[in-house]
Amino acid sequence: MFIQSINGLKLDFESPLAWLLNFRASALRTLANLEADAKRTAQSLHSHKNTPASDTQTLTRLQNILQAQNFNHQKLSKMFQPLIEHPALPHALGSFTGAPSLQTESLEANFVNLFRDWAWPYVSATEGQATEETRAHLKAILDLLPDRKMTRVLILGAGSARLAFDLACEIKCDEIVATEINPLLFLAAKEILDGKTLDLYEIAELPASLETASVKQSLKLPTDVQMKSKLTLLFNDFTEDRLQEAQFDIVITPWFIDVVGLPFEITRSKINRLLTVGGSWVNLGPLMFMTNDRSELLTNDEIQSRLSQSNSGFRVERKSQNWLTQLKSSLSATFRTDAVYGWRADKIENQKTEQVLDTNQTTAPRAEFIQDTGKPVVLERLLPNLDLEEAAQSHALLSEILMACHEGQSVRQMATKLAPDFGLPAEAVEPIVQGVLVNFIRSQS
Ligand SMILES: C[S@@+](CC[C@H](N)C(=O)[O-])C[C@H]1O[C@@H](n2cnc3c(N)ncnc32)[C@H](O)[C@@H]1O
Repeated sequence: MFIQSINGLKLDFESPLAWLLNFRASALRTLANLEADAKRTAQSLHSHKNTPASDTQTLTRLQNILQAQNFNHQKLSKMFQPLIEHPALPHALGSFTGAPSLQTESLEANFVNLFRDWAWPYVSATEGQATEETRAHLKAILDLLPDRKMTRVLILGAGSARLAFDLACEIKCDEIVATEINPLLFLAAKEILDGKTLDLYEIAELPASLETASVKQSLKLPTDVQMKSKLTLLFNDFTEDRLQEAQFDIVITPWFIDVVGLPFEITRSKINRLLTVGGSWVNLGPLMFMTNDRSELLTNDEIQSRLSQSNSGFRVERKSQNWLTQLKSSLSATFRTDAVYGWRADKIENQKTEQVLDTNQTTAPRAEFIQDTGKPVVLERLLPNLDLEEAAQSHALLSEILMACHEGQSVRQMATKLAPDFGLPAEAVEPIVQGVLVNFIRSQS
C-alpha cells in the first residue's frame, strides 16, 4: 500500500515510509516519556502522602501535575493513532528500502508553540483575538511583505500554523501552502483549523505559582476573523527539494533558517529555486544556525553581504531587526527575548546551477585525521557536543541489535531482552530498538 496521507494531510517526502517509521518511533518515545514522567510524579506523590508533615500545597501541585500528565498522554495517544497504526505499516515494513535526510528534532520540540498559537489569552477584547506574540509575529511579517498582489505563498516550517492562519485571514491570494515535518504540531494544527477544540494541559517548566503548575487549555480558532485565502498544510521536508521550482511568488521562512540547519548559501539557493523571478523571500527569526561548527554561526552582517552577493540571484529590498519576547507564558517564571532579523529579498534571476553549493561538501567536517594520519583524533573538536561514553554505549546497543537481527529475532524479542538494562517495560524499549534500526538503515542507504 502506498502511503500518501495522514489524517487528510498529504505526505510529500522522498520516502513517506521512512518519515512514518521515524516519527512513529518518536511518537512512541514521546508517549513512553510521558508515561515515565507520570510514574515519577505518582511515586513522588506517594512518598509525600506517606510523610506525616507533608505540605498540602505540594500534594495539590503533584496531584494536578499527575492528572495533567495522564490527560496529555491519553490525548496524544489518540492524536498519534493514525501515525502509530497507519494501515500501510504492516505491508510497508516488509518493503522498507531505507531513506532520506529527515532531521531528527524531538517530536515535543516546539510543543509550547501550540499553546502560544491557539490558547494563550488575547491581548485585549477590543484588539481582536490574537495573543501578544502571534500579533507581533504577524505585524513583523506584514511589514516586510511587498505591496503588490500575491498569488501563491509558501510558508516553510510552519509549526502549529498560527502565522499561516493569520496570513490567510489577512491577505487575499490563490493559495498559501504551509509545510512542516513534525506530525505533532501539524496533526494538532489540522484539528484546530478544522474547527475542533483541542484540550491539552500546559505544564509549566518553571511554574510561576501553585495555580500555574499545570493548567488545562482549550486550543481553538479565534472566532473574530475568517480566512480570505485557501490554506493547505503539506508534510514536506525542505531539504529534499520536492516542491516544483518557480511555483511561488512569496516564500516565508519564520523562525526556520536557524532550525533547518543547512549552510546559509544552500538555504538561499533552495529558496531561489522555489520562487518565480520577481518573487520575494521574506525571512523573520534568529540566525543561530544548528551547527557544531562555530565558523558557520554567521552574524547578520555576514548574512546580509551573502544575500547581496552578485551570484545570489536576490536583491535585498527591506530589512528589520527587533527584540521579540519568546514564549512568555503566564504560567511560567521565565521567558526568552531574542534578536529577530527580518528581510525581504526579491529574486532578480535564477541562481545558476554551477553556483549552487553541494550540501555534502559544505557540511563535511574538516577532519585533520584525513590529512595527517600521525595526528591524534580529537573527536571533541569535530563534535563539540559528543558524549563519548554515551556514544560507546549506543554503539554497543547497535551491535547487540544487529546480532539479534542476524539471529532472526523480532523487535519484541529484542526489546524484552534489553528491557532490564534500560529499567523500562519491554513496550517502552520497542520504540528505542525501532529508532536504532531506522537510523542504522538510513545511515547505510
Ligand atoms: C522554530 S520552529 C518555528 C515554527 C513556526 N514557523 C513558528 O514560527 O512558530 C521551526 C519549525 O521548522 C520545522 N522544520 C525543521 N526542519 C524542517 C524541514 N527540513 N522541512 C520542513 N520543516 C522543518 C520544525 O519541525 C519546526 O516546527
